[in-house]
Amino acid sequence: MSSAPRPVVLSGIQPSGRLTLGNYLGAIKNWVPLSATHDCHYMLVDLHAITVRQDPAVLRDRCLEFISLYIACGLDPSRNVLFVQSHVAAHARLSWILNCYTQMGELGRMTQFKDKSSKHVDNINAGLFDYPVLMAADILLYNATGVPVGDDQKQHLELTRDIAIRFNRAHGTPEHPVFTVPEPMIPPVGARIMGLQEPTAKMSKSGGAETDALYLLDPPDTITRKIKRAVTDPGNEVRFDVLEKPGVSNLMAILSATTGESFDRIVERFDGQGYGKLKGAVAEAVVECLRPVQARYAELRADEDGLMRVLREGAQRASRVADTTLMRVHQALGFIPE
Ligand code: TRP
Repeated sequence: MSSAPRPVVLSGIQPSGRLTLGNYLGAIKNWVPLSATHDCHYMLVDLHAITVRQDPAVLRDRCLEFISLYIACGLDPSRNVLFVQSHVAAHARLSWILNCYTQMGELGRMTQFKDKSSKHVDNINAGLFDYPVLMAADILLYNATGVPVGDDQKQHLELTRDIAIRFNRAHGTPEHPVFTVPEPMIPPVGARIMGLQEPTAKMSKSGGAETDALYLLDPPDTITRKIKRAVTDPGNEVRFDVLEKPGVSNLMAILSATTGESFDRIVERFDGQGYGKLKGAVAEAVVECLRPVQARYAELRADEDGLMRVLREGAQRASRVADTTLMRVHQALGFIPE
């Protein structure tokens, strides 16, 4: 019996900074159940990371740390293709081709490029400008139908769709498009985790103040201290209102995502109790949520041979799909088959 092909999901995180509770609750945790219904590919985008200078020893260590955390957070390597972008040569190869189907003006309009080039004025390299084209290659190589990303990546996804549609028009037919046009999968507002000190901006894994983010590997007392110092809002009423009460709403989002409690139930439970009680409950919930993740991480990270095996196998599985797409593209372009 032949079964219908499953929808394909692909996402990636840059191995820079440190993974936060926001990466876990807003992304990785939601990726875990997808493997029941989708073909899932999750990578570490090391080629993207070097658009900003990285210390080689730190980068290497971080890739192993992040891949251990992917697995510790529940991404089973036998149910998900876990890999490092630089291990699959097709990413760089397709990215060159897609460069020739992307306009300078389109890339110049990307808000992330504008942001990053104003932050790194001494290193506005061509890779930083070209970053979204490599991201388009990442996505299109796997025929991804859905791409789970944060709100900040929506513009890059739009560009990916434009490039795919343009290439299909030039080289495909409506019955046989070269690329699958992907859809973004963006978590709803209540599921987004914001900074503890700046609750109007997302919890950032690099660049923010140390106390703004809860890192997945923070010890319990650090977590508790950071949550106790989190910015709240005037008044003392616990209710979900992102505009009027961004700090309290963020604490509620964290509590809801870690315990499964609804916002209504949280409001009821903390009625008349003030922010202190809420913070205590949030701290406890986060510590309990991260305890098993940290324990599993320690085991996984200690077994470097095991991690290398996961990455090698992931790269082989990813390459099979990616190379097939790349050869289809070569053929569409009239390149002589290899
Ligand atoms: N640009 C993404 C980010 O900064 C990371 C990324 C690279 C990505 N390639 C991707 C995300 C492909 C989804 C799919 O968050």
